Amino acid sequence: MQTNETYDDHVIRLFLLAAVVWGIIGMTVGTYAGSQLAWPALNFDLPWLTFSRLRPDHTFGVIFAFGGSALIGTCYYVVQRTCHTRLAFPRLANMTFWGWQLACLLTMITVPLGYTQSKEYAEAEWPIDLLIAVVWVSFGVVFFATLARRRIRHIYVANWYYGAFIIAVGLLHVVNNLVVPVSLTKSYPIYSGVVDAMVQWWYGHNAVAFFLTAGFLGMMYYFVPRQAQQPLWSYRFSIVNFWALISVYMWAGSHHLMYTALPDWVQGVGMVFSLVLLMPSWGSAANGLFTFNGSWHRVKNDPAAKFMILALVFYAASTFEGSMMAIKTVNALSHYTDWTIAHVHSGSIGWVAMITIGSLYAMAPRILGREAMHSHGGMELHFWLHTIGVLLYVISMWTAGVTEGLMWRATHADGSLVYPFIDSLLAIKPLYVVRALGGAFMVAGMICMAWNLWHTAAEARRTPIKPIPVPEPAAIPAAG
Ligand code: HEM
Ligand code: HEM
Repeated sequence: MQTNETYDDHVIRLFLLAAVVWGIIGMTVGTYAGSQLAWPALNFDLPWLTFSRLRPDHTFGVIFAFGGSALIGTCYYVVQRTCHTRLAFPRLANMTFWGWQLACLLTMITVPLGYTQSKEYAEAEWPIDLLIAVVWVSFGVVFFATLARRRIRHIYVANWYYGAFIIAVGLLHVVNNLVVPVSLTKSYPIYSGVVDAMVQWWYGHNAVAFFLTAGFLGMMYYFVPRQAQQPLWSYRFSIVNFWALISVYMWAGSHHLMYTALPDWVQGVGMVFSLVLLMPSWGSAANGLFTFNGSWHRVKNDPAAKFMILALVFYAASTFEGSMMAIKTVNALSHYTDWTIAHVHSGSIGWVAMITIGSLYAMAPRILGREAMHSHGGMELHFWLHTIGVLLYVISMWTAGVTEGLMWRATHADGSLVYPFIDSLLAIKPLYVVRALGGAFMVAGMICMAWNLWHTAAEARRTPIKPIPVPEPAAIPAAG
């Protein structure tokens, strides 16, 4: 296949392929786990098919395997284009691909088999954690060394976000996974009690902050101006938002531990910082959306742009919701209910998956040496399948969450509960069916994407063309 040889694109093609394959696997496991909540018999009494094992398998699959592959791949793409240089260590970059895939595969297999550290979003046992640490450091070396050999003075803002994502995730991974191994497959954390809870949610929350937010903002700051074919609405604003975001996010993690044994003032700090966090979050969402000013006509015929715009809308919506849920009185209603699940997925299948899919559609033809994807209709179909799926998912889970919260807190005058717990389960069962349907729509969309990519790559092999060089608007900072 003849492609643009100016850059090291081979490893990026591998990450693209991996992202789509893991996207299908991770979302299928999520849909299956969600179906079990509607039809519990689907676990067939097999330990490795139980919800408790499939759920962490799903979260690892979608966040680290799907999201991680897309993030590392696009990061290599963006840093080369914005620095006008090739990757500093292409062999090491290739190693990060195989190392990351090995870590993902091992985790996806060992978690259902019951090997786990029992730490949310950090289930993999210590040998896999060591592998992840080595891959992550190598990824950082490739990224920062490429940045150091850039041919233009300016460091484009997308690289700031990618850089913060790499440094923070490395730090979080190491501190949260400090354990005492007792065998190859079992270890115990060095923390205990409230300290363990605090470290866990310092990690868990900042995994959201730096993996699911900062990294994908890096993607957004490059691909949105490129797709809108004009510079960022305000470059200066993007830098202000960067510093605000990274300095505020670190302090908000205790909003996951409201009404627990954590000191009250620590919970208060989490609440206040969560409210402040709304500003940089909306700042980036607005900056992305306003970048389309003057090119809204593209939205009509450009599915990649449509994915990006809806992603930004969901980013604004989920961060607003998150800030509200961090208010203690609101959290008293939402915590333990499916409202949290709705929030998580408005952020993850709304913001994260949509910005990823839009960016991959924008990037794929260029690294495959084509002018466009094989099927425009296929992209349109994917957009609608995904959008309908997201709406079915989040609307059903919002409804389920509020129903649960209100039923659980309803009491008679003498203080006894109005509803036995089982009544709340029966009330939301139909909503679990709707969520499973939403999942099936999104999985179908991902399969459609895989089909489209397959044909685009096949055409590139048959009739190689050189990509038409187009200016990189993202590399040109706006005056504002
Ligand atoms: C087809 C799409 C998806 C379906 C059907 C799905 C389904 C599910 C289900 C059933 C759960 C367990 C909920 C519970 O514990 O009650 C879950 C949890 C979760 N999913 Fe997904 N999911 C999908 C996509 C994604 C994506 C793309 C991401 C991230 C990029 C994601 C991130 C998460 C997270 C972080 C949780 C844990 C939430 C919590 O415990 O608060 N999901 N998902
Ligand atoms: C301003 C930004 C945000 C704030 C203030 C915020 C706040 C919150 C709050 C208060 C909770 C509920 C904690 C609980 O009751 O247990 C929560 C849960 C969660 N949020 Fe957010 N959120 C924000 C943005 C996001 C985004 C953009 C995503 C995903 C891309 C996300 C992913 C999650 C996840 C995965 C959980 C569930 C964690 C768990 O219990 O397993 N959040 N968030």
